[in-house]
Amino acid sequence: MIARGAALQDILDGLMHLIEFQSDDLLCSLMLLDEDGRTMHPASGPSLPPAFLAAMDGAAIGPCAGSCGTAMYRGETVIVTDVMTDPLWADYRALIAPHGLRACWSTPIHGDRQQILGSFAMYYREPKPPGQADLRLLGVATHLAAIAIERARREAELAQHREHLQELVVARTAALSRAQEDLVRRDKLAALGALVAGVAHELNTPIGNSLMAATCLAEKTRALAASVEGGLRRSQLAQFLTQAEEAGQILARNLQRAARMVASFKRVAVDPDNSERRAFMLCELVAELLPPLRILARQCAVDIHADVAPGLAMDSYPGPLAEVLTHLVDNCLVHAFADTAHGAIVIGAVPGPDASVLMSVSDNGAGIAPPLAPRVYDPFVTTRMGSGGSGLGLHVVHNIVNAVLGGSIELESELGKGSTFRLRLPAIAPGMASEPGP
Ligand SMILES: Nc1ncnc2c1ncn2[C@@H]1O[C@H](COP(=O)(O)OP(=O)(O)O)[C@@H](O)[C@H]1O
Ligand SMILES: [Mg+2]
Repeated sequence: MIARGAALQDILDGLMHLIEFQSDDLLCSLMLLDEDGRTMHPASGPSLPPAFLAAMDGAAIGPCAGSCGTAMYRGETVIVTDVMTDPLWADYRALIAPHGLRACWSTPIHGDRQQILGSFAMYYREPKPPGQADLRLLGVATHLAAIAIERARREAELAQHREHLQELVVARTAALSRAQEDLVRRDKLAALGALVAGVAHELNTPIGNSLMAATCLAEKTRALAASVEGGLRRSQLAQFLTQAEEAGQILARNLQRAARMVASFKRVAVDPDNSERRAFMLCELVAELLPPLRILARQCAVDIHADVAPGLAMDSYPGPLAEVLTHLVDNCLVHAFADTAHGAIVIGAVPGPDASVLMSVSDNGAGIAPPLAPRVYDPFVTTRMGSGGSGLGLHVVHNIVNAVLGGSIELESELGKGSTFRLRLPAIAPGMASEPGP
């Protein structure tokens, strides 16, 4: 029973019965010492009169406190052959007298660290000293009781630790998720800040140029008006017309550039609701994309090739997917092949696990430097600042792949060997499936 960890009360009651069974007329009890080390409480005494046990509950241990109280106080066995005459029982004689108990031998129960846990006592209805067998029984019972009590206390301690640990885990989890939310919020704010700064920076040049051209034109016009008053020469008019045309060209070029930028900024916020969704065959989509891409590739003397497994059916957004593939190919043409003689781009697609499609766009060009690789999807990250790069392309690609197509994108690249962008796309994009055709 001790090994099975039954409730302490059951174990102690069982132990008392077992010891009582060894001798006629024997009655056993077990007292536990309070944590304060001063008062005792009956833990078991199945055959003793309940009124007697109740009267002992809360009694203080001491140098003259019956057999049990004295045994615990002294830390040694106390043998009382007759409670009616022994001075140790002076204070408790009136309590025990009505129950007809006479001999009482008690042994303190020690814990692992030699602290006193309680006491075990044997009572007889006639006065007598213990024999050898009785002393052995006292020893065995005390030893077993010590094991049972220690074990119960350990279990209680463990349960307490476990509870504490659970509380700790709950508290830590809450703190972690708060920290995570905080990080996400800070990340979003940082991205927004970078976006605003980037937009301002990019628009600054074309708008500044336009302002300069417009101011200059206004000045020349005022000068022309003044000349008209005092008689305008033909050469003056011709010069003005040339300058006006130049200013007009500068204005148009710069405003067009600004308009193009605004258009590309607008694409950053991709919106699946405005994209057409339908069922299509992937090989057909890629076949339609190839001819215009080939024209661009030929200009850069690059070979472009598609390797799409036949029969890959998708229910997704063909427009945004085409935009993604076009941009990835365009990036290869713009960034990968400056020093590559036999440039080649491959668009691949194979069926993937869990109804997904694995696509890839690879080139055998310059590759992407390891420090740049983790940042390529960030807005305004470009190695072509000032020569046509906005650094928004891969940011838009990432947004479309995640938010519209419901997939993910990964980059593998080695400097000097080339880059591969791998897409994992669900064959059926998340959100509403398209209406089945009539
Ligand atoms: N296929 C590629 N080969 C080499 N570098 C690439 C490739 N694709 C993208 N990059 C790098 O990633 C950067 C970010 O790309 P992107 O967001 O499209 O901006 P942009 O094309 O306007 O520079 C590029 O400036 C370039 O340095
Ligand atoms: Mg680009």
